[in-house]
Amino acid sequence: MNNWDDVKRRILETADLVEIVGDVVDLRHRGANFVGLCPFHTEKTPSFAVSSDKGIYKCFGCGKSGNVISFMTDYHGMDYSEAIKELARRYAIPLPEQTKSKKQKEQISKRELVMTALDESGKYFIKMLGTTSGKTALSYINKRGFSKETQKEFMIGLSPTGWDNLKLELEKKGFSDQLLLEAGLLVERDGGGGFYDRFRERLMFPIQDTLGKIIGFGARQLIDDKNQPKYINSPQTIVYDKSKVLYGLFQGKNEIRSKGYAILTEGYADVISLYQAGFKNSIASSGTSLTKDQLILLKRYCKKLYIVYDADSAGINATLRAIDLALEEGFELWVVALPGGEDPDSIIREHGNKLFQAYIKDAQSFVEFKYNYYKKEDKLSSPADMSHLIRDIIGNIVKIPDRLQHDAYISRLAALLNLSTRQVERIYKEKGKLESELAKSGKSTPKPPVEQQKPKVEDNNEIKEIDDNFVPDYSLLLTEEKLILKSMVLSSAVADYLIDTVEADDDRFITNEAKRLFHLLNGLRTEDDDLIKRIVSDETVHPKDVEFFSSLVLESNEISDNWKNFSKGVAVFDLIKPVMDSLIKLDLLKLDIELEKLTSKIKESLGSNLDLLVKHTELSQKRKELTNRF
Ligand code: CTP
Ligand code: MN
Repeated sequence: MNNWDDVKRRILETADLVEIVGDVVDLRHRGANFVGLCPFHTEKTPSFAVSSDKGIYKCFGCGKSGNVISFMTDYHGMDYSEAIKELARRYAIPLPEQTKSKKQKEQISKRELVMTALDESGKYFIKMLGTTSGKTALSYINKRGFSKETQKEFMIGLSPTGWDNLKLELEKKGFSDQLLLEAGLLVERDGGGGFYDRFRERLMFPIQDTLGKIIGFGARQLIDDKNQPKYINSPQTIVYDKSKVLYGLFQGKNEIRSKGYAILTEGYADVISLYQAGFKNSIASSGTSLTKDQLILLKRYCKKLYIVYDADSAGINATLRAIDLALEEGFELWVVALPGGEDPDSIIREHGNKLFQAYIKDAQSFVEFKYNYYKKEDKLSSPADMSHLIRDIIGNIVKIPDRLQHDAYISRLAALLNLSTRQVERIYKEKGKLESELAKSGKSTPKPPVEQQKPKVEDNNEIKEIDDNFVPDYSLLLTEEKLILKSMVLSSAVADYLIDTVEADDDRFITNEAKRLFHLLNGLRTEDDDLIKRIVSDETVHPKDVEFFSSLVLESNEISDNWKNFSKGVAVFDLIKPVMDSLIKLDLLKLDIELEKLTSKIKESLGSNLDLLVKHTELSQKRKELTNRF
């Protein structure tokens, strides 16, 4: 079976570093890389770079660097084996058997069985749409305007009429009633006389985790029946906790990341309609009001949120609640007001996406939203009303982690309420009071990241030795040496050419640091791997060297414009030219150094030593030849 090295290799192949780092850092595209504020030290401008395809990160402020595994150990404070297990779990990579206790094994296999049952159910519901009994459901889907593609994207299905269709189908596949009950697919009859299907004669919306696995269902009635709930949802199970899941996040996560914001709606239908209309960054907190855990999940993907809830009183209350929670989690927040009786789905269906886009463009800040709400409710006529609104809003402002925003919101409020300077001063006083209260209750300071724990404990429980006497000085490296080393790390073709064809060896370099690093790279070369990936994942490479090479790969193109070409995969030939030029420049420099030495020796011996003179002439000639090549 597979062993830990396999697991590690598969993690490095599969895990998305941008996603893992994105859990805690707001990452933005910059060129081939992502950048954000470093999670290892406090900073105001981003110097933390992540390369998605190379799988490495590096902070140009504090120097921290590594790969997806070291991020788990260094940031999350896990030990090595915890990190491996967590990543394996997250990316569904199986672990070697012997390490699990019997109890753990049972738990894991139950989770797996439940997930399989849910997956089978999803397939079954989709199949049912295609049968004769699926006709009504299909015409309902058509009426709602969901295209074939949309159906497929969201895996929409049908639970047929009858009490035990799914039960019988899955029993045939070997699932026990007990397991199906635990999966939330069956309900136990009152008095314990057996089980029946939870979902019957309903349109099925699978709820997926961020990897796309089905973890539950939302089920809508096909025919309006006031005696039945419009929606039935999966209950809490070992794989589904509705307070930690966002509907549509799997389908929308890339769009959310690239647009930088999510559109938060009330329901399944809204997410699906918006997605189909091109607003693929839509999500819903299905079957529950928005929770803190859902926002923490969303923070992996964006820091900006548009709330688009229904305009009814339930929707407005939900919006007010969401405002409090989302501001506290540090989201930049916009509230989209829709006309009474409409929801995103109905706007799209009846008026098209242009109108919805316009509503998004007109979104209000939470200050304006609350002001308008108070005004509409006629709660702004007396001085007492006014101070109520002000207190309400200051209460929100003090919880915004980014203090720079506080002033902006206060001036917005001042403008809306036509406040005098004196009144604004009073607001700041009030705010100060609230803040010191919050500080006393210990709620205002954000938790710092877990400190790095050293030494790292490897899975085999051997403590990894870190040589404290090792003091490399990379600043000694010459520009040309750096260029050559960087090129080798970026392109194994260049490394091969240098070593195999040009037959360059350590002595082609001038500084000892460069000789050592070149030697190191030479020893790490393999057929099938990028050098940088080897460096980052090879335990024998010293962390300082890992950090140095990562920074070479991720640093901005300060040395030469040619660097842009490296990442774009230009012909190796074009990459080799600057490398060869650098080699020659190094040769030149070496000659100059030697010539200088000789000259001083000649001076010492007052020109009496013929050998030295001959040697000097030789080298000078050689130097001229080299210079002519430029
Ligand atoms: N909901 C629920 N149970 C209900 C009613 C609603 O869980 N009995 C949840 C569902 O997640 C639903 C959301 O609340 O999607 C919003 O409800 P509603 O606005 O009534 O439904 P829509 O999503 O708008 O659905 P439709 O357009 O089909 O009426
Ligand atoms: Mn609706």
